[in-house]
Amino acid sequence: MTIFIDPAQRIGTISPKLHGQFIEYLGTCINEGIWVGEDSPIPNTKGYRNDVLDALKQLKPPVLRWPGGCYADMYHWRDGIGPREERPVTFNENFGTFEREDNQFGTDEFLQLCEMIGAEPWININLLSGTVQEMKDWMEYCNRAEDTTLSRLRAANGHPEPYNVKYWGIGNEVWAGGGTMTPQTYMDEYRRFASAMPKFTQSVFETSPMYAIASGPDSNKPRESVKWTEDFFTSLSEYRQPPIHGYDMHFYNWNVSDPADTPTEFTREGWNRVISGCLELEDLIVEQAALVRSSIQRVPEPEGPLDSKLTHVDLVLGEWGNWHYSAFTAQPALKQQVTMRDAITTALTLDLLQRHCDVLTMACNAQTVNVLNSLILTEGEDMVITPNYDVFMMYQAHRGARALSIPRQDKETGVYTFASEKDGVITVDLVNASMDAATDVELLFASPVDVVSVRRLEADDPHSCNTPESPDAVRSYQVDAPAETGASHTLSLPAASVTVLTARVL
Ligand code: AHR
Repeated sequence: MTIFIDPAQRIGTISPKLHGQFIEYLGTCINEGIWVGEDSPIPNTKGYRNDVLDALKQLKPPVLRWPGGCYADMYHWRDGIGPREERPVTFNENFGTFEREDNQFGTDEFLQLCEMIGAEPWININLLSGTVQEMKDWMEYCNRAEDTTLSRLRAANGHPEPYNVKYWGIGNEVWAGGGTMTPQTYMDEYRRFASAMPKFTQSVFETSPMYAIASGPDSNKPRESVKWTEDFFTSLSEYRQPPIHGYDMHFYNWNVSDPADTPTEFTREGWNRVISGCLELEDLIVEQAALVRSSIQRVPEPEGPLDSKLTHVDLVLGEWGNWHYSAFTAQPALKQQVTMRDAITTALTLDLLQRHCDVLTMACNAQTVNVLNSLILTEGEDMVITPNYDVFMMYQAHRGARALSIPRQDKETGVYTFASEKDGVITVDLVNASMDAATDVELLFASPVDVVSVRRLEADDPHSCNTPESPDAVRSYQVDAPAETGASHTLSLPAASVTVLTARVL
């Protein structure tokens, strides 16, 4: 079989923010997973554990979403600022976490983590149990450059310069844990909060204003999510529009139909179910993007001379990842091992997000550490990098590149493909999602190229995973391929593998 790749056939530019991450006070995602505190015996820098910090610095997630998730609607930001020994102790029930929360990792710790790893912060405000004033104060604390009580408080807490946080989520899953609202009741709430967002004078906000993200649909309920989006935008269009820049759909690849299927023990049927499950997201993105676009077109011209017409809202995907059955009873809460099955779906998901870069601007993997589709797992002082981390690293070249129009799957071999081009370098992803069949593929470029590198992630057994005892059981490696020049290149793809080839156009 032959995959034809022409760098002139472009879909659009891949927003680096499609490679975003999400962290939440859930299980050991933040406490233990990222933050251990300065007094911990676990080697740390100012309280951030060194091993995880180093991994995140290399990963450079372009955006990092925090503090939830569901937790955002219980979170009061003032609990997490100031001298750590004076911070209140609260109780965290989020998804069965059931722990005291001593609020040692708060706004400054999060935003300074973002600075250290080169991520843009996305803060989700507390819409459910918080107030408009609380949200406004949080924004003032983070962003006010002028001398005010809240900017002085930030300075007293160690950060005189404003953090210039651009991305603000106004509600999370408001159809479930975020209030079990209807689109209409949410719209009433959204209007109050979003229209109260303060404005800041820094030049960075002149070119790129604060960005309000509305809670979008539960994409795991396709019928309901169509109605949700239609009703939300109908409510929005009826009267004057509050600021709205992003619309946040969530999608989990639920693998909950077979209790015997665990993250590491699964049959071929379980393998196939999870692989095909992740691909359902593709149609949902296309559908939601079309609905958002057509809904906005129906927004009437404003009557008043001072109102401007809403012309565009970005579609974003604030949470995605595999959710296996055992996560519900896992301790720490929602912690899952990660095998090649998850790595394959991570690769396929990133490929489909990139393929729809013309309609999708931002996406966050749920979650970075110790929860669901993790990139990093910790256990006390041990830490392992999961195969998902390798996929994100292998895919870094796609950030900011132009997605190319090639078929998503080769019909003959079943191999899934994606390609992008940047500065004359073409990067091709080849995902062999078969659990046990190796195959050959021929890449035929529109003109001769130099193959620069071939990198691969595979495992002896698709059930393999990385553990403290065997941290590198599944690790990507450089394929020892001869440097080749020409238009045609043939590759052998092992079963259950992700291969990334880079080639320079001559
Ligand atoms: O990622 C875990 C939870 O899943 C999040 O808190 C919530 O938004 C979603 O339901």
